Amino acid sequence: MSNQQQSNMTDTEKNTGTTSTIEQADDAINNYVFPFSPREIGIVTSVSTGIVKVSGLPNVGFEELLQFPNGLFGIAYNIDEDEIGVILLGKDSLLTAGDEVERTGRVMDVPVGDALIGRVVDPLGQPIDNKGAVANRQRLPIERPAPAIMDRNAVSVPLQTGIKVIDALIPIGRGQRELIVGDRQTGKTAIAIDAILNQKDKNVLCVYCAIGQRASAVAKVIANLEEKGAMDYTTVVVAEGNNSPGLEYIAPYAATSIAEYFMQQGRDVLIVYDDLTHHARAYREISLLLRRPPGREAFPGDIFYIHSRLLERSTHLSDDLKGGSLTALPIIETEAQNISAYIPTNLISITDGQIYLSPKFFELGILPAVDVGKSVSRVGDKAQLPSYSSIANLKLEYAQFEELETFARFGTRLDENTKKTIEHGKRIRECLKQQELQQMPVSEQIIILLALKNGLMDNIPVEKIKDAEDALLKNFNNFPDEIIKRLFSDAKLSDDDSKAILKIAGTILAPLQDKPKPDENKDEPKPDQNKK
Ligand SMILES: Nc1ncnc2c1ncn2[C@@H]1O[C@H](COP(=O)(O)OP(=O)(O)OP(=O)(O)O)[C@@H](O)[C@H]1O
Ligand SMILES: [Mg+2]
Repeated sequence: MSNQQQSNMTDTEKNTGTTSTIEQADDAINNYVFPFSPREIGIVTSVSTGIVKVSGLPNVGFEELLQFPNGLFGIAYNIDEDEIGVILLGKDSLLTAGDEVERTGRVMDVPVGDALIGRVVDPLGQPIDNKGAVANRQRLPIERPAPAIMDRNAVSVPLQTGIKVIDALIPIGRGQRELIVGDRQTGKTAIAIDAILNQKDKNVLCVYCAIGQRASAVAKVIANLEEKGAMDYTTVVVAEGNNSPGLEYIAPYAATSIAEYFMQQGRDVLIVYDDLTHHARAYREISLLLRRPPGREAFPGDIFYIHSRLLERSTHLSDDLKGGSLTALPIIETEAQNISAYIPTNLISITDGQIYLSPKFFELGILPAVDVGKSVSRVGDKAQLPSYSSIANLKLEYAQFEELETFARFGTRLDENTKKTIEHGKRIRECLKQQELQQMPVSEQIIILLALKNGLMDNIPVEKIKDAEDALLKNFNNFPDEIIKRLFSDAKLSDDDSKAILKIAGTILAPLQDKPKPDENKDEPKPDQNKK
């Protein structure tokens, strides 16, 4: 194309183009209608601890997020004709009566996604670990309906905690809800943390939700998780004890939404609520301040509902929905071992079993202080690895021992059989002891417990049971690889395999065996020397 031609075309195009653009712009300006977007603004009428009363906002919806000055948010919770009771998600000292409040038109939501893995966030999803903003901006509402029955699958895959007494006697399955219940300082958090640490390299993501705890306790947990490399697959959601009750109240819901996102991607997720006693107390505080009628133990009438709608969201999804799972370990603190108080009984009936921790065992140094007699797992045994069936009646033997032990205390003369049961039971108890942060893999658990169950440790003095365990672990390579592999298979342990294991274990334990002396070891369980 010649230069002459090019300049001609450009001129023509320019002329027609300019005219029409000016006309179009004129049209657009003349016909522009400013969109009228009314903003509903209300006024704060009173402020109390964690609660704000608001007037105005005639069209506000239940649980709608409201925005206050200073970047504060609140949830519209009591909607009366001329007043709205709002749960404040932040410091009430930043507000005064007369402040403006605005509707947001949406419910409370949190950021979700892979960017949250390894982060410590508050219940609003804002990072509190000084590692910068959370990159992923996908959000989910904190309150979501639980999956329908037809969307769920049965619990079928085990969730190993690495704690012998739990994996063998009170097994947990992926998608199960297992309550950890006990008095204060009985090792509740320790069990949950062990369960999280044991998910390393197991393709399970974890969410630890701390509700109303001391900052030092939360810092200790995070330090443990970081030290053991568990932050690579864990998200921590923290509402500390000195946060507003509103933040404590929404924390478990926010944490569940974060976990639920992963479940819906087909992942297996473990969530720990530490602990729901504080959650119930925060909700009671909010409800009483909002002047809702108090019921039993001054808790509001819907306290059962707030916990059941939280825990119903944990499940094993059907294969059509990618088959992910959400396993919940809610923690509840009892007072003076009263498991029949309002909140513990509620949660026992909502969950699929409970692990009961006894302060008596804790004092005696029987750690973890699990009271096997009061602990159950209603669905976990269906998910337990089949090889555990070779040690199935250990729970029964232990329960029989505990009953007989009480009798034996009265100096009753005992027949040979009873003495044997008691001696065997003492060794079971000794063998089920386990230090915190020392998870044990499935194969080691089964070999130790199989040897124990078949009486290979009955002639070893109680104080040497730990040495026996160590000897088995040290010589673990003596057990053929193919047998160890079969421990993880879908089939029960064959007689041949179990005989082979017992033969090798017998050889390893031989140097520790004492000649049976019936009146040895008659003393009560002694406090553990290693007790912290
Ligand atoms: N298996 C264990 N072996 C040794 N020490 C343990 C074991 N389990 C717990 N402990 C110790 O017992 C103490 C209490 O444990 P933990 O904090 O887990 O109890 P808790 O019931 O969660 O307490 P709180 O009621 O304060 O939340 C801790 O010092 C912990 O180190
Ligand atoms: Mg604790």
